[in-house]
Amino acid sequence: MASSPDLDINRRDVILAGAAAAVASSLPGGAEAQAAAPPAGAGPTRATVSLTVNGVIRELEVDTRTTLLDLLRETLHLTGTKKGCDHGQCGACTVIVDGRRINSCLSLALMHEHQNVTTIEGLGTPDDLHPMQAAFVAHDGYQCGYCTPGQICSAVAVIAEVKADIPSHVTDDLTVPVELTEAEIRERMSGNICRCGAYSNIVEAIVEAGRRA
Ligand code: FES
Ligand code: FES
Repeated sequence: MASSPDLDINRRDVILAGAAAAVASSLPGGAEAQAAAPPAGAGPTRATVSLTVNGVIRELEVDTRTTLLDLLRETLHLTGTKKGCDHGQCGACTVIVDGRRINSCLSLALMHEHQNVTTIEGLGTPDDLHPMQAAFVAHDGYQCGYCTPGQICSAVAVIAEVKADIPSHVTDDLTVPVELTEAEIRERMSGNICRCGAYSNIVEAIVEAGRRA
């Protein structure tokens, strides 16, 4: 069968790439690492990102490796959002981006160009608490409080998820509206770990805030 010039070029490129990979993999470990390293003195790559944080537009130049969590805490000094594990396992860093909760430690700041980020500081203030914050206080939903900002951001998004009829793993019947049951709350909040074990109070707080929402 006749082949097109494009196909020939692609084949040649693939063969060359394979040969380069074979040479690289035959190098001793150190030499391979050096081959992949940026030139000495090059410094980190920086880029500009523009995003809205708690209603304020921020345009910032950041190291391209900066996580959203570090941008919030280190650059914007919004230290309400906590760094627990830095590995997506504890939920302490949960923030709401365009209405959905995410682990900000697992997300690069540059991925949020033109998006809306809400942190615990953007939900309420000590003089004007968000209903979820008030419910956590009323039900003693925290002890050391380290996980609390992430729990509250997550809980606010959970209520929005249930209102939007988004099912979870414990939703039995997909043909009727989702209800904010204790089982739904426990399942949806399972990514937010509290080492003090304030879980039952947290569930009570979410039930109450959900009733008022
Ligand atoms: S700090 Fe992000 S999940 Fe633990
Ligand atoms: S209140 Fe202490 S870890 Fe949650």
